[in-house]
Formats: sequence, C-alpha cells, structure tokens
Amino acid sequence: MSKPSTIVILTGAGISAESGLPTFRDVNGLWEGHRIEEVATPEAFARTPWLVHEFYNQRRAALRKAEPNDAHYAIARLQQSYPGEVVLVTQNVDDLHEQAETPSVIHMHGELRKVRCENCWKVVRCGGDVSIDTPCPSCEQAGFLRPLIVWFGEAPFEMDRIERTLQRADLFVAIGTSGVVYPAAGFVRQAKLAGAETIEINNAVTEASGHFDRHLTGPATEQVPAWVAELLA
Ligand code: OAD
Repeated sequence: MSKPSTIVILTGAGISAESGLPTFRDVNGLWEGHRIEEVATPEAFARTPWLVHEFYNQRRAALRKAEPNDAHYAIARLQQSYPGEVVLVTQNVDDLHEQAETPSVIHMHGELRKVRCENCWKVVRCGGDVSIDTPCPSCEQAGFLRPLIVWFGEAPFEMDRIERTLQRADLFVAIGTSGVVYPAAGFVRQAKLAGAETIEINNAVTEASGHFDRHLTGPATEQVPAWVAELLA
C-alpha cells in the first residue's frame, strides 16, 4: 500500500491528559470547575481581567510541572523522519509538542506561554504570572497585556493555511479531541471531501466518531506511538 504524501494531524486536550494537564469536557475537566463565560470570552476579559489572568496563571503553573509524553514524542518523530509532509495543527495552548521537539506546530487556539500587548500589538513570551499591572516588556505600558488565547467568539489563528493544507490531505488524524468545537470539529469533513482517509485516536467515542473511517481506541500514549511506528515501518 502506498504511503500518504500529506498527513494532517489535529490534536486536542486528550493528548496532554497523560502529562497531567486536565482536559476541558471530561469528568473533572476545566469546564466543570470554571464557567466559559467567566474566563474564556473577550467579554469576560473586559469585565474582570484579573479573574481571567488568574485562570491562565494557573494554567501556566500546571504547564510548568508537565512534561511531554510518548504521544507527543511519537508525533515529533513522525514529523522529523516521515518522507512526506506532516502538518500538525493543535487546539492545545500548552507547548508540549514543542518541548518534544516537533519542528512545526500550528497553534490554532493560541499559546499559553505568550501574551499580546493591546497597546503596541507585540506578542511576547511569558512563562510566569501576569496581572493587570504587568508592564509590556516592549512598550513598557501597564494594563494592556492579554493572554494569546483564542477565546469563544474570536477567530482561530492560521485558518487559511490550515484549510489549504486540508485540501491536499491524503490522511487526516484527530487525536484526543472531543470534536465539538468548531471550526476544528469540521476538519474531518473537509479532509474527507478532499479524498483523505480519516482516523480518530481517542480513549472514548466522541460526537465526531461517526465521521471517521477508522478508530484507534485507547490512551494516546499507547495508540499514537503504535500508529507512528506502523507509518514509519
Ligand atoms: P475536550 O476536553 O473537549 O476533549 C478531550 C478529548 O480527549 C475527549 O474526547 C476525551 O475522550 C479524549 N481523551 C482524554 N484523555 C485521553 C487519553 N489519555 N488518550 C486519548 N484520548 C483522551 O478537549 P478538546 O477537544 O481539545 O478551546 O477541546 C477543544 C477546545 O475546547 C479547546 O481547545 C478549548 C476548549 O474550550 C478554547 O479554550 C478556545
């Protein structure tokens, strides 16, 4: 059987679950303990910016304790050694794919370790806590930093590039995502329209499962390395 020339991988919170980062919609997930309207919308940030900063400060603190797992490393290996094109799109705002040395990652929902200044529009790295008093390292004005997170009601990053890639995909693989948040939830159908084979890797059935050709069921740390080994064999 010939190998796919373009593979598009979409990852979600499930790939980082075994690194100790909570998912959003599972039992004890982030959206059980926090209301989306209070911490993940532009309106929430306008109303109570300290609360929103605190939520992302906690996420950064959790990320400082987390390490990439075997699924992140397997994807890094695939992108480094596969003879064709491997495009990785993640909904995750953690940087565990980068820590695993994945050469190229598209963060469609933003990045936890970056903030943007709404005064000078610079994006700057930020590993620690941010408050409404933190000055921008670039323009030095306080009160303008916001998390580089795509909140509900905002447009995801790099959609043109992602959609162009989906049009030439031969294989689309969704890993550890519940398939309920658009536009990412629609990628499987776009890839199918382009003629790609579609695989879902998840430890449970999702709302999107019916759209996939194949299912690899189980923890990402087992299923992803096995799938990558098969592709690289
Ligand atoms: P969800 O929390 O919605 O879904 C996590 C998925 O991972 C579920 O389908 C689980 O079954 C699966 N899962 C959990 N542990 C797993 C494991 N060890 N191995 C394999 N699968 C596992 O997270 P996302 O789909 O990433 O957006 O959520 C999408 C977006 O909704 C997020 O990017 C976030 C959220 O609101 C923003 O904040 C903008």
